[in-house]
Amino acid sequence: MAEEAHSLVIDQVVRQALDNANLTENDLSAVAVTIGPGLSLCLRVGVQKARRIAGQFSLPIVGVHHMEAHALVARLIEKNLQFPFLALLISGGHNLLILAHELGHYLQLGTTIDDAIGEAYDKTARWLGLDMRKGGGPALEELAMEGDPNSINFSIPMKQHKDCNFSYAGLKTQVRLAMESRKISPGSDPISLTNSEGRRSRADIAASFQRVAVLHLEERCQRAIEWALKIEPSIKYLVVSGGVASNKYVRARLNHVVENNNLQLVCPPPSLCTDNGVMIAWTGIEHFLSGRFDPPPPDNEPEDAMFELRPRWPLGEEYLQGKSEARSMKKARMYPSLTSMIQDSLQQQS
Ligand code: KG4
Ligand code: ZN
Repeated sequence: MAEEAHSLVIDQVVRQALDNANLTENDLSAVAVTIGPGLSLCLRVGVQKARRIAGQFSLPIVGVHHMEAHALVARLIEKNLQFPFLALLISGGHNLLILAHELGHYLQLGTTIDDAIGEAYDKTARWLGLDMRKGGGPALEELAMEGDPNSINFSIPMKQHKDCNFSYAGLKTQVRLAMESRKISPGSDPISLTNSEGRRSRADIAASFQRVAVLHLEERCQRAIEWALKIEPSIKYLVVSGGVASNKYVRARLNHVVENNNLQLVCPPPSLCTDNGVMIAWTGIEHFLSGRFDPPPPDNEPEDAMFELRPRWPLGEEYLQGKSEARSMKKARMYPSLTSMIQDSLQQQS
């Protein structure tokens, strides 16, 4: 279904983007396209389209890492944001703390050992019977404003692990248990059908969940700032990006952490935090200008031509001190990281 949804709209989305920009393909200097990480069926739709345009108009092609794009789009809105900087990337599929040394060179200080925070927001929203049409995260953020964030004492994940990794599976279980003890059955009745007492009870769960979910981010960011400043003392900025970064509570709480450490927060506007094409184009520009791109593919490339997709593709190498025994990531069929690929090719050139 996801593949079909992509195939159905890809042509008109590209057409509309060009029309809105008052451009034609002839005005382009290159085509940037996401090649990973993500569902290969969906990646393929985008890459095929990009290769068709690039082939037809003889344009170079830039393969982009989705999470790098979430981080780098901050440089489009904050022109003073120079490398090195620290980035917290929070989305539906990823929770990453990254030290960006320079373009294409990233050190992974932490990642999630199970679920990403966006997933936990979505799941909690669905269980609480919220209207998912505008997205689980925004719906939960809204309901949380009505609730008491201190009404339920959820425990903060991974307190005993003094690293920068994340875990949200346990918090999800705590939410389920809290619902059961309040006789709310997960996902079975829409909040619009409950009375005011029931609504209040769900708002309390939402607010308490959000408080603890974000406290976990705050604790990890504080530690990551300490680690990062030891490695790169010149760091001045923490970038917070990815869909969950459009949450006002998340921004406000992280802004405190950042200010307490005399750093500055850069958080793109919500339209550039949630998945968008601008961030891919911008990252394409950054790599294109540094000479990293592929030559135009042949015109009329056959539909079944082979090209590379990278469904599982880390952004950077893991920081050794940050390696956690709690991590259970499967390494099978994983690509070498973007950073190690770029470093290898630089070495081969010299
Ligand atoms: O970056 P993104 O658009 O897509 C992925 O790469 O995953 O992030 C989507 C995630 C979803 O889980 C969505 O519920 C969450 O971001 N999200 C939010 C908010 N807006 C989007 N979570 C909490 N509060 C929000 N306001
Ligand atoms: Zn994303």
